Amino acid sequence: MSTQFHAKTVLITGASRGIGKQLAQDFAREGARCLLVARDTAALEENRGQLPNPDQHVCYPCDVARKEDVEEMARKVRAEHGPPDILVNNAGVSRYKLFLDTPIEEHEALMQVNYWGMLYCTYAFLPAMLDRNSGHIVNLSSVSGKLGTIRHTAYCASKFAVAGFSDSLYFELLGTGVRVMVVNPGVVETHLFDHESFSDFPDDVRKMMKPAHLLTRAILKGIRKGKYEVTFPRGLWAGVVVRALWPPLYRMLQARFLKIPRTRPGASV
Ligand SMILES: NC(=O)c1ccc[n+]([C@@H]2O[C@H](COP(=O)([O-])OP(=O)(O)OC[C@H]3O[C@@H](n4cnc5c(N)ncnc54)[C@H](OP(=O)(O)O)[C@@H]3O)[C@@H](O)[C@H]2O)c1
Repeated sequence: MSTQFHAKTVLITGASRGIGKQLAQDFAREGARCLLVARDTAALEENRGQLPNPDQHVCYPCDVARKEDVEEMARKVRAEHGPPDILVNNAGVSRYKLFLDTPIEEHEALMQVNYWGMLYCTYAFLPAMLDRNSGHIVNLSSVSGKLGTIRHTAYCASKFAVAGFSDSLYFELLGTGVRVMVVNPGVVETHLFDHESFSDFPDDVRKMMKPAHLLTRAILKGIRKGKYEVTFPRGLWAGVVVRALWPPLYRMLQARFLKIPRTRPGASV
């Protein structure tokens, strides 16, 4: 079966687990060649082995937070395959901590992976995409890149940065043949929440978690349709619209829903 993704090269960062792993399965099923990027070499190789036609996919172990690592990975990819047709900037980390309970180094580390990792990869492949007048860049932001969510100061800041970067790049790329798409997932069942800081993540939010394959299906559909933005599940748009049109109402509803405790931020520092 020939699909829009048949024989396309798709580079996915954060392909060792979660959403990235599921994206590789979806793209590979549609006949694409997947270039799998993450730090965990063993997990990447295992995932590659489980894809249809495993021999046509390639793993590139790389820490996207390190500019030199990304430049080295990109040099190899360009030499071996040319620039990818689709670059999915998906690698990311999260923490569930109050601002003052989060050491400065952890704020820096989150920004380094979630924002700078996305930027390094885009910098590495966009010029060749522009030379070719074609390409698709998909940036995983979050609903936390649209709305401030509690105990997510580091994460929200990094995802707002991804969203702002993507909004700006969208206009720069108009008419070039290269597209950018930003994805705003709500809560999706992955390893993102394995970190100990999520041990008291509210059960009512956990219950709302969606399986990764539903999100990745929406992402592939968004690319096919040439959408700029995919918000998943779509109902989350209601929060975004309320915040934009009536910010005080949004804040009141959020505060009630989240049952925000009246503790002094950083009391445990
Ligand atoms: N799950 C959700 O509810 C949700 C909601 C909104 C947005 N998102 C976003 O979706 C993306 C994927 O997250 P996920 O939920 O699939 O989480 P996950 O299961 O924890 O997977 C995260 C992936 O990122 C990779 N990664 C982390 N740091 C990296 C680094 N320095 N260099 C290279 N790769 C790195 C990890 O691989 P290695 O550890 O092997 O490097 C892993 O493959 C993230 O950007 C996340 O912020 C997720």
